Amino acid sequence: MHSSSSESKRLVLFPILVVAATQLLLLQSVSSLNLTNAYLHHKCLDREGKYKPGSKYENALTKIIKGFSEDSEGFRTGWRMTAWGKEPNMTAITYFCRTDSRGPKCRSCVATASSELLHKRCPRHRGAVIWYDQCVVDFSTFMTVGMINYDDNFCMSSAKNLSDDSISFTDRLFLLDNLTKLAITEIDKAIKEAKMPVLYAAGEKRFGKTNLYGMVQCSGGLSIKGCEECMTYYMVHFQKCWKRKQGVRVLSATCNFRYELYPFISPKSPYYTKFLK
Ligand SMILES: *[C@@H]1O[C@H](CO)[C@@H](O)[C@H](O)[C@H]1NC(C)=O
Ligand SMILES: *[C@@H]1O[C@H](CO)[C@@H](O)[C@H](O)[C@H]1NC(C)=O
Ligand SMILES: *[C@@H]1O[C@H](CO)[C@@H](O)[C@H](O)[C@H]1NC(C)=O
Ligand SMILES: *[C@@H]1O[C@H](CO)[C@@H](O)[C@H](O)[C@H]1NC(C)=O
Repeated sequence: MHSSSSESKRLVLFPILVVAATQLLLLQSVSSLNLTNAYLHHKCLDREGKYKPGSKYENALTKIIKGFSEDSEGFRTGWRMTAWGKEPNMTAITYFCRTDSRGPKCRSCVATASSELLHKRCPRHRGAVIWYDQCVVDFSTFMTVGMINYDDNFCMSSAKNLSDDSISFTDRLFLLDNLTKLAITEIDKAIKEAKMPVLYAAGEKRFGKTNLYGMVQCSGGLSIKGCEECMTYYMVHFQKCWKRKQGVRVLSATCNFRYELYPFISPKSPYYTKFLK
């Protein structure tokens, strides 16, 4: 649904401009990149129980969120898990930001997302996840590091079907698979002390007259193997949702992917690849 609504927005933005086809294309891609930080979805996790107002749990949540704002290192690298207390009564918050949105965008996304979860979307829930374009924030009662989340996820596909003669299912799978390979092999330039893979990749490939744009990302809490397993699971799990579709976002609390027929990540951003034929 998202790509159809963004398409209509883009068309409404410039209805009276008479421009050459190339300029129009340019405007469309610029405005689609500027669809800033949209809220996508949230899930309150009843299985992790609730806390009472004024409880230690609530206090810990508020403190962790305040602490984030003083921790610019987390926003620079785009991932953090902070926890208070011990399992099973742990108060933990994990976030990860889309790698092209590290820094100030990550900071503001995490602040908005945490506050939405805490005050509006899932008040008093010990477990909850919220997804924005640029970040994912997860409240939990246990350590999330190294764990693939198979339970909290969703698929948002474009309303439009691909025509039969255009980009095949295999083409799309191959692009996502190749992006995953890059994500687990490219070294993260923001983490200098250790050679860690960036766990993110974006790119595009031309198919005849059409470009396909893709992005994959894992939470910084996953290992290389965990990232690969998470991506593989979600590429299979939601296939019915996107098999025929022009665009999709598949999101979980630990890995995400997206493809579209229009650009949604700047080709000038880091870890972006233009695949040759
Ligand atoms: C998005 O819009 C801002 C101005 O609001 C502009 O400076 C920036 O270049 C745009 N970004 C892209 C990728 O088009
Ligand atoms: C966890 O918290 C619940 C409710 O506050 C309490 O009943 C339980 O004893 C606590 N468990 C541990 C291991 O502290
Ligand atoms: C897309 O294809 C599916 C399955 O073939 C069909 O049920 C659906 O109506 C089509 N949607 C549109 C918008 O054409
Ligand atoms: C990705 O990998 C497959 C083989 O696994 C290959 O055929 C394909 O051309 C590659 N490139 C892209 C951009 O999909």
